[in-house]
Amino acid sequence: MNKAFPAVVRPHPTIDRYRDALERNGFAHEIGKNIQCVISATAMDWVGLARDAGRSAPIDQNRGGCEAGRHRYYSVGVYVKRAAAGTRFLAFPPFVDSCGERFTTFIQPPGMNRDYDAERRFEPLPENLLRHHGLQEVVDLCFQVTPSSLFPDEARDWLRAGLHLISLQAKGARPGIISPNRAHVDGELSTTVVMLERVNVIGGVSLVVERAFADMHPNEIPFDARRARITLEETLDILTVDDRRVAHYVFPIFACNNTKGHRTVLLVDFTPLVPETSDQLLKRE
Ligand SMILES: [Fe+2]
Repeated sequence: MNKAFPAVVRPHPTIDRYRDALERNGFAHEIGKNIQCVISATAMDWVGLARDAGRSAPIDQNRGGCEAGRHRYYSVGVYVKRAAAGTRFLAFPPFVDSCGERFTTFIQPPGMNRDYDAERRFEPLPENLLRHHGLQEVVDLCFQVTPSSLFPDEARDWLRAGLHLISLQAKGARPGIISPNRAHVDGELSTTVVMLERVNVIGGVSLVVERAFADMHPNEIPFDARRARITLEETLDILTVDDRRVAHYVFPIFACNNTKGHRTVLLVDFTPLVPETSDQLLKRE
């Protein structure tokens, strides 16, 4: 028999409020204490495992990843809102190279990130995270907080869901730096940042700015173009951005007193997987 998700009955006032704010402002933020009331113990169990995974995540082997202290996993799959079965998110199986190593690829649309014009290769999320029922609930939560008005056809179609588990690690005087190190848009229609763990770091403030300032460093962005300045601190503090309305940025993290520290987040993004029907193709002829 199929397992039913989500475990918590919705709508929940916290979700309603968040979704309305996101629709109204182009971004929304909620503190983890309130999100913890909305999800089940199974999802919290998953969050604990993801936190552990972040501590031992592999260094980003792509150009610039190592010196920026970026450790990360990436998996991508399909999310189906209307799935009759309980499981709504299905990760695509990873590719396997000639040495037997499993990997996923990540390609950003042209012009979105001028640091990377080629595809990047990452390790997929560990199997214990992908198979855990709590993941279903976490992805479902990220979908629930995103208004259907953001998606074509009100998200009736299949969505591509990307999961980035990113642990920025700072050591000594070297900071941990996001990619790109500028305000930017990512191309995915919405991205929800879920704080998993922040240990012994300063910095890492998230900025939400007018979209016109995408691709600029905060030094170049007027203060009055800032829409929000938020530090995700506690477990399950979340921030969602509507990529069509705003750009975002995260300041580097530094280890307190030049020791060691890290900041681990899960990013869940949604983009339509829009099929072209034969009718639509015919209309273009
Ligand atoms: Fe981003």
